[in-house]
Amino acid sequence: MKAIVLCAGEGTRLRPISFTGPKHMLPIANKPIVRHVVESIVEAGIRDIGLIINRGWESAFREAFANAHARWGANVEFIYQDEPLGLAHAAGCARDFVGDAPFLMYLGDNLLEKGVTGIVERYERGGFNSVISLYEVDDPTAFGVAELDGERIVRVVEKPKEPKSNWAIMGVYLFDHHVFDVIDGLKPSWRGEYEITDAIQGLVDRGLAVAPHFVEGWWLDAGTPDDMIQSNRRKLLQLASNAQTDVGTVIWDECRDEDLPEGTVIRNSEIRGPVIIGRRCQITNAYIGPFTSIGDGVIVSGSEVENSILLNDCQILEFGPRLDKSIIGRRARLTASATAVGSSSSTFILADDSVVNLRQCT
Ligand code: G1P
Repeated sequence: MKAIVLCAGEGTRLRPISFTGPKHMLPIANKPIVRHVVESIVEAGIRDIGLIINRGWESAFREAFANAHARWGANVEFIYQDEPLGLAHAAGCARDFVGDAPFLMYLGDNLLEKGVTGIVERYERGGFNSVISLYEVDDPTAFGVAELDGERIVRVVEKPKEPKSNWAIMGVYLFDHHVFDVIDGLKPSWRGEYEITDAIQGLVDRGLAVAPHFVEGWWLDAGTPDDMIQSNRRKLLQLASNAQTDVGTVIWDECRDEDLPEGTVIRNSEIRGPVIIGRRCQITNAYIGPFTSIGDGVIVSGSEVENSILLNDCQILEFGPRLDKSIIGRRARLTASATAVGSSSSTFILADDSVVNLRQCT
């Protein structure tokens, strides 16, 4: 079995932070989202992985997966989708890579608490041409929605106004080679995209066996800043049970200097976990509250941060309002004059290299 991970989306809902890099490379608990995805694929026993990317961001992806073979024993290849023509189009771009093998298709911004072992096992037990993971949601109108008849999916509709069930189609699918024949005959939808939902419906219409896989545990699609903050919370809670990770130190309440990552110094500060802190950080006279991820080389001085994601090398210096639910880009710099009066907390979504300086209004 092979896997393809779709990472070519433009991330428009994450602007401005997605202007300077692909959203799939944004960190959740100090690790790019797509690396969490690839690790869960490897955990499910798949070693042949194709990342479908936009050529413009190739170097960022190549750098992140340069040692994939040594780290996971995985072969990671890059496949280009140069136009954003939809999920079925992206799958079509991977046809040569996939060949005749069955394949897992995984949207590169989706995170699942329990990974993808369940759907892979369901497919491997045999009997189906495709397995589609479903998640029960209160309002499925923003998703593809599946209608079921026992063990089979009998109809799928993309973003229906009047959904016939509460089963949302998640971003994880298993297909055999038949899907490529269907994709060849697809027409673009009203939103101008080749929809994967139409490809699934095409399989059903040809009498092929399409089965549901019901997913338990949390599922998050890190498509908006709020989703990123939520995903970061969930992941930090999950990681907090293992004291160490390969991308920083997860801290609950107390931390000793000897536990800190290389080059990181914390002075006269209160840290309330779960928090992850990277290398070469300086935290001085600060409060770092729960669910905060701090990348490498970050400086927080005389400031308060919680429930936020700070990317590498940003600086929060004597900043008035407490940062909450914020995403601060690489090398961004937040300062305030001593007299600035802040509201009790503020939310900022700042792209790389942004500068914010608060002053008191007169
Ligand atoms: C896509 C799929 C949809 C699926 C969703 C899961 O929607 O088209 O069927 O339910 O991903 O996240 P999009 O994110 O393109 O709106």
